[in-house]
Amino acid sequence: MNLDILTLFPEMFEGPFSHSILKRAQEKGLVTINIYNIRNWATDKHKRVDDYPFGGGAGMVMMIDPVVRCIETMKATREYDEIIYLSPDGELLNQGIANQLSLKTNLLILCGHYKGIDERIRQHFITREISIGDYVLSGGEMAAVVLTDTIVRILPGVLNDETSALSDSFQDGLVSPPAYTRPFDYRGLKVPDILLSGNDREIARWRHEQALIRTEKRRPGLNLDQDMGSGVE
Ligand code: ADE
Repeated sequence: MNLDILTLFPEMFEGPFSHSILKRAQEKGLVTINIYNIRNWATDKHKRVDDYPFGGGAGMVMMIDPVVRCIETMKATREYDEIIYLSPDGELLNQGIANQLSLKTNLLILCGHYKGIDERIRQHFITREISIGDYVLSGGEMAAVVLTDTIVRILPGVLNDETSALSDSFQDGLVSPPAYTRPFDYRGLKVPDILLSGNDREIARWRHEQALIRTEKRRPGLNLDQDMGSGVE
């Protein structure tokens, strides 16, 4: 998979993409992540990328020309399955959307900043708009990190244990059951005996039961909220 990210703040991606699972996925060649600075496509001598909003009001708006030039350069090199804009008014990200996007080959992600981007970009160049939650971030970069992580970690071969992504919370419409590790007894706080029984069937049954109880208690209706993204559209 190729994931191309367009941003005014490329440095914001350095940490998140250089560790752990995202780092390993890139090293294994399962994903190529390229970060491009939109400012490089600004044409005036000050490399200007934002301007005051028509009609007045607070905040700056990202200008159409540098963004469109940048998108056009990218489109000349690959055919994108989706050109995604991250915005608080986009469709709410969930596991189903991540699953769907993980089946794609080329994704372009545009990060907005300031008061957003010129609406004409959204209307004419963006194919999908995604929000990571009902709150406002300073820009799309953090959201792009979240989106990238949700997609990349489920690419086949990224996680060592192939089944572990499938048993994540949400993949079966349930949250995860509780997990424990050593010591068995911490200051009198004990791990449920069943987990030490060695009976795999009973343990699996217990975990499923716990997942059901937790889902009902914490996220009732979770499995009704989302299409899990089988890839059939
Ligand atoms: N940009 C600003 N806030 C955002 C959010 N909640 N989701 C996606 N992009 C954003």
